[in-house]
Amino acid sequence: MEERAVVLGKLMLRGYWLALGLVRRVIGCGPFESFDSEDAMLINRARQDHLASLGLNLVHQSILEVGAGVGRHTAFFEKLSCAVISTDARAENVAEHLRRFPHRQGRVFVADLSVPGSHQWFGQFDIVYCYGALYHLRDPTLCIRELAKNCRKLFLLETCVNPTDNGEINPVIEDRDNTTQSFDGVGCRPARDWVMQQLRQNFPFAYVTVTQPNHPDFELSWPVSSKRKGLFRSVFVASRSPLVLPSLSSTLLAKQTRLAAHFSGEPHEARL
Ligand SMILES: C[S@@+](CC[C@H](N)C(=O)[O-])C[C@H]1O[C@@H](n2cnc3c(N)ncnc32)[C@H](O)[C@@H]1O
Repeated sequence: MEERAVVLGKLMLRGYWLALGLVRRVIGCGPFESFDSEDAMLINRARQDHLASLGLNLVHQSILEVGAGVGRHTAFFEKLSCAVISTDARAENVAEHLRRFPHRQGRVFVADLSVPGSHQWFGQFDIVYCYGALYHLRDPTLCIRELAKNCRKLFLLETCVNPTDNGEINPVIEDRDNTTQSFDGVGCRPARDWVMQQLRQNFPFAYVTVTQPNHPDFELSWPVSSKRKGLFRSVFVASRSPLVLPSLSSTLLAKQTRLAAHFSGEPHEARL
């Protein structure tokens, strides 16, 4: 009896989010608009072209994708014959993810990275993929420490960072009503040196990428000039075994190069 009530409750909640999504789409103010904007498409493409260029073994791996939003990155790994489990803190994002990609039923879950132990029961994966999520958390230390336990081989991290390497997490307030932002309204802009130090505490090897994705958010020169405004992003790789690749540096770089535009066309000025 209790089980039936739980199932009924879940169905009603799912129906509520689907109906809400439909109404918002009809009146033209969808809550998932930011995930689908042209800017989002451009930066996603740039991130994935960059990831594909690093020379990492990404084929036939098990993947835990966190802060997955509505699942726009997941197909990158599906195309590489990976088995992907995706999570997000927002039930409405998970429902929208499954509405768009019903074949992922049973592989997309609600899990809040700010809750200790939230990802423990998913077990271990070859790769943990954390793109566009860390800087939406009030406690990025907890996130890295806990996800390291899920990770057998590689931790792939893309995050907004502080313009200077000040060794801090640099908290910020975010709009919790925006489905792409912090679930509890507090995020951070961790410094690159802080990120490297945390990765080294939780993994034997940590790297920053030599190139940056072909998108203006991915700054090439550090510290960033105080005249530059906006978001500044970096990509990091942590590993259980040493990686000897020309695409990775074990020390933070003051200068990075732009990944040549041969995948995604000319550099553009889009902002996200
Ligand atoms: C900018 S979107 C990124 C989506 C996708 N990973 C990408 O890079 O395009 C940030 C995502 O993080 C999720 N998020 C925010 N706070 C979270 C938390 N505490 N735990 C898990 N996910 C969270 C949001 O719901 C949103 O889907």
